[in-house]
Amino acid sequence: MLLVANWKMNGDSTLLAQMHQALLAIKLAEGDVIICPPFTLLAAAQQLFADTAIAIGAQDVSSEENGAFTGQISAKMLSQLACSYVIIGHSERRQYCLETDTLIAAKCAQAQNAGLIPILCVGENAEQKARNETEQVVLAQVRSVLDNLQKDQLAQLVIAYEPVWAIGSGQAAAPELANNVHGMIRAAVAEYDVKAAAAMQILYGGSVNADNIAAFLAQPHINGALIGGASLKPDVFVQLIQKSE
Ligand code: PGA
Repeated sequence: MLLVANWKMNGDSTLLAQMHQALLAIKLAEGDVIICPPFTLLAAAQQLFADTAIAIGAQDVSSEENGAFTGQISAKMLSQLACSYVIIGHSERRQYCLETDTLIAAKCAQAQNAGLIPILCVGENAEQKARNETEQVVLAQVRSVLDNLQKDQLAQLVIAYEPVWAIGSGQAAAPELANNVHGMIRAAVAEYDVKAAAAMQILYGGSVNADNIAAFLAQPHINGALIGGASLKPDVFVQLIQKSE
């Protein structure tokens, strides 16, 4: 099981210290909880969470290895800050930064080449859902990345299904319906590698909270969650973790 806290453009060193205190007070299995703060807090997170069961992730990475790309952060830079994961292709980056499937696929490849595990975000928006295009949209997003990875890299990939209409809206998807989409994603991965598909962690994201996390995790194809708003309050996030056990 994986619980990934996506802080987005929120948080500061005080919140990081409070989260550290709150998480130290509970028992966690190694690597089950990943904190993804903004870039500027990664070095502090590295120090605070070293020697804990908690892993660190970033929220984005460059599609380039190095060079004249002002403002970008490379996968190698992230791995030097003890990041083990990186969120790639979040719908907010697809929407506000106009990230394409091609760019996202290149970012995933860069991340993997530097030893980071990409958390690839996919999901349909409200209009696409209304047109019954969920399967088509999600599988195209998944396949554009899988087509670009070596077969042996599939074991080092996490996919997060995040229906765009559910993000930050308080309207989570119905767990059974999300599970159906997760099943379709797993079947699509199996077209590339059956073993990797069976072992792949496929997360749900979109208005996950302490009250609904257990219902998501009870679904056979849902292996964890990507959590935005509910990961910004240490007491709420701790409650959510405890409901996941
Ligand atoms: P939310 O965000 O939990 O606030 O809906 C999830 C996400 O965007 O990853």
